[in-house]
Amino acid sequence: MNDARKRSPHDFVFKQELGHGSYSTVYKAVDRTNANRVYAIKVCSKQHIIKEKKVKYVTIEKNTLNLLTRARHPGIVKLHYTFHDEENLYFVLDYAPGGELLSLLHRMKTFSEMWACHFTCQLIDSMQFLHSQGIIHRDLKPENLLLNNEGRLMITDFGTATGTDSRGSSFVGTAEYVSPELLLHNQCDVSSDIWALGCMIYQFLQGSPPFRGENELQTFEKTVSLDYPWNNPQVTPKGINPVVVDLTRRILVLDPSVRPTLQQIKLHKWFELVDWNNKELLWRGIWQ
Ligand code: ADE
Repeated sequence: MNDARKRSPHDFVFKQELGHGSYSTVYKAVDRTNANRVYAIKVCSKQHIIKEKKVKYVTIEKNTLNLLTRARHPGIVKLHYTFHDEENLYFVLDYAPGGELLSLLHRMKTFSEMWACHFTCQLIDSMQFLHSQGIIHRDLKPENLLLNNEGRLMITDFGTATGTDSRGSSFVGTAEYVSPELLLHNQCDVSSDIWALGCMIYQFLQGSPPFRGENELQTFEKTVSLDYPWNNPQVTPKGINPVVVDLTRRILVLDPSVRPTLQQIKLHKWFELVDWNNKELLWRGIWQ
């Protein structure tokens, strides 16, 4: 986009696979004319997209990424070019050398409270930006959060995004992070992304998401009955700061109109040391 000439797959040297989704594979790739330019190229098979009726999703992804790339925010993966050949569609994206946050979490088992808070702050900041641009992600989860060199989170995978003005929706994201209002009333707005945020705060500290059954149906049943280990107000979970348990309990409520907004969440005691105006989103006194 910052270069009028249309690119093609021959402009890049494709390296190892970085991951794959339901209709695409992501590869590391280097610009043939400038080895310092490293990208992640998402390759979507045209045949597969048509067969699986995913044309709508790739179109949403392209339009959303174009809009967000123009609006610029360090917490969102940028789209540099798109092109296609006979077989595939290509999205040339920022390369995130740190990979998926989920992989880091699996390696660490759980995050310390300090790291959980650090990642949550970055996520809140990026989500506020997304919502201010009129976009709901609808599939926020640690697989869709990538890490750059500096430990900064970048949200990716906008194939399921929608406008904040949309009402009903037949789309269901990933079972463990789907909000009760989507399951019960087919309702989806910015507070559904906030539900996913609550699930992730829990997961950062406990290692696995709060609502997880043996199959999707059981997971949905747990979600709509708020059946998760921190939900008993008489019991303080062992080894977890009660302040973050309080925040999680406030977010994971069935009625989306009662769920706090991101602005309200930023005022919670768990973030009292956070300087939200610091672009790096570090704590006063800890890393200065
Ligand atoms: N895996 C999926 N997308 C990626 C990206 N943009 N950078 C690094 N790893 C990825």
